[in-house]
Amino acid sequence: MRKPFIAGNWKMNLTDEEALKFVDQVVERVPSIESVDYAVCGQAVSLKDMKERAVGTNLQIGAQNVHEEEKGAFTGEISASALTSVGVKLAIIGHSERREYYNDTDERINLKVKTALNHGITPILCVGEQLEEREAGRAESVVRKQLEDALDGIEAGRAADIVIAYEPVWAIGTGKSSSPEDAGAMCGTIRRFLFDTYGPETAESIRIQYGGSVKPENIRSYMAEEDIDGALVGGASLDVDSYLSLIEETAK
Ligand code: 13P
Repeated sequence: MRKPFIAGNWKMNLTDEEALKFVDQVVERVPSIESVDYAVCGQAVSLKDMKERAVGTNLQIGAQNVHEEEKGAFTGEISASALTSVGVKLAIIGHSERREYYNDTDERINLKVKTALNHGITPILCVGEQLEEREAGRAESVVRKQLEDALDGIEAGRAADIVIAYEPVWAIGTGKSSSPEDAGAMCGTIRRFLFDTYGPETAESIRIQYGGSVKPENIRSYMAEEDIDGALVGGASLDVDSYLSLIEETAK
């Protein structure tokens, strides 16, 4: 049985004060939900204090990126060891916004996933097609290729620690979410890829999230799909009431 996992991706939103207040409120209000894993991925500047406030609770704190190199002259980047030094053990990798604006190629994403795993950081590996690719009937082949490249050289034992987020690019921040059936079908394709690559045990244990205009009102329709094990949520994770509703709806 895969435990559902709801992760908020705050992107470049919330000040430090707002981020910490959010964490305090979550910690205060959901001390007892055990059936769902939940996380928020904040801006780097706030991660240390967010983590400190969440220590001893079920709220996981994640980063939105990690650099592939151990350290060095990479101005503005974040190293895996800097993340683990403040207790952060979760990082989104290969989000479509980073693929589009920051040259996160499949090859670099592969290196980032490996670096994260080497440091005991769980990657939330994002994949997803563009609208033109879906319209051209290429969505599945695009996603399979992204997975092949991102997971290249990562053996089954280590792959089991990865979370995959299927985020069709056209559904991100647009309010135009994928139908649960289409999202479920693609997550099934991802599961088959994992089965072919890693065998049944690993394929069955890896959690696959859907992301793209997920809200408290539609989360249950996604969770009803067999191969969807949670969500990576942008806009609807910025408000604490909405974030808590996502967790509560998932726990129902
Ligand atoms: P929205 O939930 O705002 O569509 O963003 C999805 C996303 O990109 C999460 O990583």
